[in-house]
Amino acid sequence: MSVVRLEHLTKTFPGGTTAVDDLTLTIDDGEFLVLVGPSGCGKSTVLRMIAGLEAVSGGAVSIDDEDVTDWPPKLRDIAMVFQNYALYPHMTVQENMGFALKLRHMDKAEASEKVNDTAGLLGLSTLLDRKPAALSGGQRQRVAMGRALVRRPRVFLLDEPLSNLDAKLRVSMRAELSRLHQRYRITTVYVTHDQVEAMTLGDRIAVLDRGRLQQVGTPDELYREPANRFVAGFMGSPSMNFATVDLGGDAGRVTVRLAGREFEVPAALRRRPGLARYLGSAVVMGLRPAAFAPATSAEVAALRVVPLGVESLGDEKHVLFRPPRAIAAAGDEPGGEDIPVAVDEADDIELWTAKVSQQTAVSIGEPIGLSVDLREAYFFDPVGGEAIPLQRDIAATAIAA
Ligand SMILES: Nc1ncnc2c1ncn2[C@@H]1O[C@H](COP(=O)(O)OP(=O)(O)O)[C@@H](O)[C@H]1O
Ligand SMILES: [Mg+2]
Repeated sequence: MSVVRLEHLTKTFPGGTTAVDDLTLTIDDGEFLVLVGPSGCGKSTVLRMIAGLEAVSGGAVSIDDEDVTDWPPKLRDIAMVFQNYALYPHMTVQENMGFALKLRHMDKAEASEKVNDTAGLLGLSTLLDRKPAALSGGQRQRVAMGRALVRRPRVFLLDEPLSNLDAKLRVSMRAELSRLHQRYRITTVYVTHDQVEAMTLGDRIAVLDRGRLQQVGTPDELYREPANRFVAGFMGSPSMNFATVDLGGDAGRVTVRLAGREFEVPAALRRRPGLARYLGSAVVMGLRPAAFAPATSAEVAALRVVPLGVESLGDEKHVLFRPPRAIAAAGDEPGGEDIPVAVDEADDIELWTAKVSQQTAVSIGEPIGLSVDLREAYFFDPVGGEAIPLQRDIAATAIAA
């Protein structure tokens, strides 16, 4: 039973970099929490402070209600696996995995049983006598995890443990990690910059940006109700597309201007609290790539875009095009308003991506019509980037009702 509590955790390095800024987060007993964010956002520093490898500048770490902030690493009963897992090259798999138990003077028979157990679970039973040099990358990573797990730590910390493996191996190791977690239920904090890993592994995900916690929630919550533009753009692949649009209309009708044309915001979104405040002003609208589809003949919400890139992924295609603000509206005169652009002209613009089926006929430079499902639209404050409506707006309305 281990609950890890981080309270106002802060780290400022001597050079003045604040790597972690006032992080408060509880990792529940037996939970698999993924800490995700771009490179340099402070993930490793958080893990190192939990492990006791890095002193805190402020705040506290507690495990099971015991303040361990100033405890040395070895008293915390934490195991950590890094991206560059260093195995002892002169030791066999068996010896590598049993090393921590030997240091603890565990009875030999008991230690060997534990090693064999864990090795079995990790598919390493037939490799126990090999040295690391005679193992594949995936096998070595499994030994590193086995070595950490064998002593059943209170807390398991993993820092981008799969990033050195090839894509296929990463997928199978992800499944293996989930299985291990099901079996042992050790409270785990897993660090990654990869949102796919975060979505597939985490019971909950904590998103970090520049040392600050942006949102904590289940993968589904983060995907469906991102708290701000950063989370919205980070979770999901390809990324959400953003544009600044003018919000028009009145209480009964809300519209957005996109590509010089008005689109009505669907009632379900319009009724959401928060949006009304922005009537008559600019908001940032977000659309996931899947909100687009090839337009059928007479669709209302159709944009005409000029594909600047087409990526075929086998079962789907990604169409890249200039954001609608920079392209002309689909006019009434067929093709009349299109502005074909050269690829190099778009260099400094963040292109939008639409996800369409493999069957869609699309090629670079040939305009196509796309429908936009505005029911799938997200809205963000143009200054602070927080989602409109905020969840607390919803809660407040629910209470008022
Ligand atoms: N020992 C250190 N001294 C000074 N700055 C550091 C040190 N370690 C990390 N940093 C800085 O702190 C920030 C966060 O680093 P890190 O926690 O390693 O990020 P991440 O693991 O998310 O990539 C970065 O700007 C990094 O350069
Ligand atoms: Mg790191």
